[in-house]
Amino acid sequence: DATTQEDLKRVAAYKAVEMVKSDMTLGLGTGSTAAHALDRLGALLRNGALRGVAGVPTSLKTEAHAARVGIPMLALADAAEIHLSIDGADEVDPDLNLVKGRGGSLLREKMIEGAGGRFVVIVDESKLVPRLGCTGAVPVEVVPFGSAYTLGLIRKVFDQLPGFSARLRTVKSKAGDDAEEIFVTDNGNYIVEMFFDDGIHGDLRAISDSLLRITGVVEHGMFLGMATSVIIAKKDGSVSVLT
Ligand code: A5P
Repeated sequence: DATTQEDLKRVAAYKAVEMVKSDMTLGLGTGSTAAHALDRLGALLRNGALRGVAGVPTSLKTEAHAARVGIPMLALADAAEIHLSIDGADEVDPDLNLVKGRGGSLLREKMIEGAGGRFVVIVDESKLVPRLGCTGAVPVEVVPFGSAYTLGLIRKVFDQLPGFSARLRTVKSKAGDDAEEIFVTDNGNYIVEMFFDDGIHGDLRAISDSLLRITGVVEHGMFLGMATSVIIAKKDGSVSVLT
């Protein structure tokens, strides 16, 4: 079977771009799946199939990609209305709640994708999970000041949740040696990664509220009740849409 995960991401992305009409303002997502949507949009703008489309990018990386493929852009404040946002996700649960931000762009994504209009999520079937937090980190953006203290507060608040742990996200240092450095978001913030051995057993809304009450937390990567539909490309060649 020559169908790769990359092919599935592309299928889901192209399907979402079919929903774009001329003169729409779009939220432009971040990540390897959303990248296919940017390529497709750029191609349709270049060949004249779409006109007057503008995008609000959810990251510096997406801004650079959109510029490269010729998608005109707007700042969030200058977009009178966002008609449709298209983005990938790290996890999708049966209620269409999402984990996003393993690429680090959760804050701008949540601002733009929550600004109104439809929010279409594009995934291959590997992203479907029974519970959020099953396959990896739930990221939490925190201000750098006092970040170790904020991490301690997060640990204290969620300590009783089964299989919970948390740490500050680091990346390999650019110096090339084995050193690690703290990951910095487009907004100059840090990311605390929350892990749950078997996913989150608990009230997602309550966990969200507790996180957002911690001073020093800017936003988290649980996108609850935000997706209006999820386009899923499957290995058997089918595409399904959950709403
Ligand atoms: C970026 O911060 C994330 O929210 C991405 O949307 C998410 O990580 C999905 O990325 P992929 O499409 O590369 O899996």
